[in-house]
Amino acid sequence: AIGGLPATAPMGWNSWNTFGCTITEHTVRAQADALVSSGLAAKGYRYVVVDDCWMAPDRNGRGQLVADPVRFPSGIAALADYVHARGLKFGIYTGAREKTCAQFGGTYPGAAGSGGHEFTDARTFASWGVDFVKDDWCSGDSAHDDQIASFTAMRDAIRSAGRPMVYSINPNSGIAGSVPGAQFDWGGVATMTRATNDVSPVWTTRPAGADATPASGDQGILDIVDAVAPIGARVGGGSFVDMDMLVVGVGNALTPAMQRTQMSMWAMMAAPLMAGNDLATMNTRTRDILANEAIIGIDQDERVHAGAMVADNPEIWSRALGSKGLVVSLTNRADHPRTLKVSLSSLGLAGDSSVSGVDAWTGRRYQANGGELSVPVGVDDTAVLSIQ
Ligand code: GLA
Repeated sequence: AIGGLPATAPMGWNSWNTFGCTITEHTVRAQADALVSSGLAAKGYRYVVVDDCWMAPDRNGRGQLVADPVRFPSGIAALADYVHARGLKFGIYTGAREKTCAQFGGTYPGAAGSGGHEFTDARTFASWGVDFVKDDWCSGDSAHDDQIASFTAMRDAIRSAGRPMVYSINPNSGIAGSVPGAQFDWGGVATMTRATNDVSPVWTTRPAGADATPASGDQGILDIVDAVAPIGARVGGGSFVDMDMLVVGVGNALTPAMQRTQMSMWAMMAAPLMAGNDLATMNTRTRDILANEAIIGIDQDERVHAGAMVADNPEIWSRALGSKGLVVSLTNRADHPRTLKVSLSSLGLAGDSSVSGVDAWTGRRYQANGGELSVPVGVDDTAVLSIQ
């Protein structure tokens, strides 16, 4: 751990994708319970993060944020206690400007952003036992200097609040064009920085035939993978590229193969793994995808850095691990099953047939032949080989 913060990417659950502005303390407690009973907590999913709309629309007479009295009648400190009592960590959301994103977008009333209230709010969060703060930009105005001033103010406020809190920022909300989370390196400011606009539980939002990732608007799994590929060097030293929540078990548009690809590529990027599905009602298939130990082990490897494309091929990435050598991911982006090939020389390995790779998803071993590894991969699926 670095200053009380996790040395590897934060893992946990976030309320937004499934519950949005209907989130209640009752639901959060049920999700914390399910994190433990499903076994996911034991696999490392630890932060229970309440996203937007937990707060009353406006501040109290002393200028402090207060919980919405109808949906969070027991208050946030009691909820944090409940979460802590289960061995978990507690996270909360705020807006970096005068409004949260739901308030800015007009789907929630009031103005309860932290802009100009950073020190008050960080002290309030610390006094409630918060372990993780998500700070979301939410404004049409994205002047870089304003973002630096706002996010560094909250960083400094958190540092002076006397409690270690993961600092998670999203500089992209409401911003069209090239999003600041991908454009600038926020490593000295935040623990984790969102690189794109919001994840959608779909494969891609790119029009058929287009190869450029849409700069703004909701993003599918593939779009996010392509958007973060050039910024992997920012991962390390306690900073992570946030690819947004997992959409495993969310909606009906994703096949199990697509969901395995999301887990695989988030792990190749050493990115935060924040489930976004309803943990209390998930089926075994969803649970098993989230719980894959080999994939989690890659994500959480002690050598915290991102993998990268091999030979400029977006379907094949490699990542060096600490004590466990090398992993190679092979994603089949075509609409038919294929055998994907990667040469040992492109991985920096001697062309020797004693090399093999074991797939994190199937446990199958592939032996190199003729200086390459050949791996049959289903439509939209990813094999993640640990090289031996
Ligand atoms: C933005 C963020 C989302 C979520 C919502 C809440 O869109 O990117 O992750 O926090 O705001 O309003």
